[in-house]
Amino acid sequence: MMERREFLWSLLWGVAAGAVCVGGEEAWGQTTRPTGRGLPSTEGLALADDLQALMQVDPKKVRYRIGVMTDPHFALRDQSLDFKALRFAPWIVGHHLRTLHQMGRLTGRKVDLLLLPGDMTRDSEPWNHAAMLRMLKALPFPTLVVPGNHDVQKVWMPKENWGVREVVAAYRGRIGGYDSALPYYAHEVTSGLMVIGLNSSDTPDGTLRDTWNGRVDDAQVAWLKQTLQRHAGKKQIFLMIHHTLIPHHPANREDSGHLWRNFHTDNADAILKLMVDYQVPLVLTGHHHIQRVQKHPAWPVTEIVTSGACSYPSQIRILDLDASGQLLQIYSLGLPWPILIAQIAQAARQDTFWYPPDKPNDPKALIAFLHGQPSDRRTLLKLPNMRILR
Ligand SMILES: [Fe+2]
Ligand SMILES: [Fe+2]
Repeated sequence: MMERREFLWSLLWGVAAGAVCVGGEEAWGQTTRPTGRGLPSTEGLALADDLQALMQVDPKKVRYRIGVMTDPHFALRDQSLDFKALRFAPWIVGHHLRTLHQMGRLTGRKVDLLLLPGDMTRDSEPWNHAAMLRMLKALPFPTLVVPGNHDVQKVWMPKENWGVREVVAAYRGRIGGYDSALPYYAHEVTSGLMVIGLNSSDTPDGTLRDTWNGRVDDAQVAWLKQTLQRHAGKKQIFLMIHHTLIPHHPANREDSGHLWRNFHTDNADAILKLMVDYQVPLVLTGHHHIQRVQKHPAWPVTEIVTSGACSYPSQIRILDLDASGQLLQIYSLGLPWPILIAQIAQAARQDTFWYPPDKPNDPKALIAFLHGQPSDRRTLLKLPNMRILR
């Protein structure tokens, strides 16, 4: 028979667990309506987490280690629970940044640089940028950012929210990368490796103010061409831009007539053509909130899309460049809390916007689309030989 003390303890635990459940449901119910899709399930949630693999890497064989986190949509004071602005986004962003901060202690090889390809904030609120800048400043390595569509002035945002000019003025030097008044830059981050940051979220003529679509303005394309002419063949060059360059779904194509074309950069082919002409093998993007390592079907270009930090499957990446500068090993790291992953998956399911347009009622298709294949999370890329060792 159960001892009296054991019984009291079990009763206490039962009440406590019930309180947590009720609290959770109540909080969830504030902003989301039940859809009848069922409770969060763990099916499909066995995400690759490559921390163990990273612990087995020989640090001497890593020439340069890049962390990638995108689309945190950082949202202090935010009480909404939609897929992109989760109330617990600050916790998740904090977790990912702590993981990157501690990478040296955890694996024996520290991170050298963080790339953050946009949507730093919920809607470019000054206080969210201030918090993001404070966190980036606390990191022991520099960060390069590019603006996402949520980091620039849109017609539906309050006037006090930052535009691209304020972003460029604030995310400077080792906390963002900007070094002039222009919203794009080229930095040699280590000997022989250059990162070019482009702005696809705002144009000087203001034509992107009423859309979340992306385009690279003509002056920037001309600057990119000049920059590549100067450095191509001498350095390994990676591009970073918020909107994607390779379609990941038929609805991404400009002629699809579907809203999902706004994930894609309007003049992506102009950028891709320059990449091919000047042997730029890699572009890092965000915006689509999917995990992909996607080779272009015809051209020698690979796009790495990293899933939104704030949304399912909330992964960050580690990119290890080897001593030859020709091999790039890509790892993915996720969240350690299955219940949180399940909650984020549930948020994804409740937001019909994120369902693949051809499968609008299929939760399994949604989860599969967001995940991609195992090779979208961990893979080895061969880069062109640029003789980057000097
Ligand atoms: Fe985003
Ligand atoms: Fe975006």
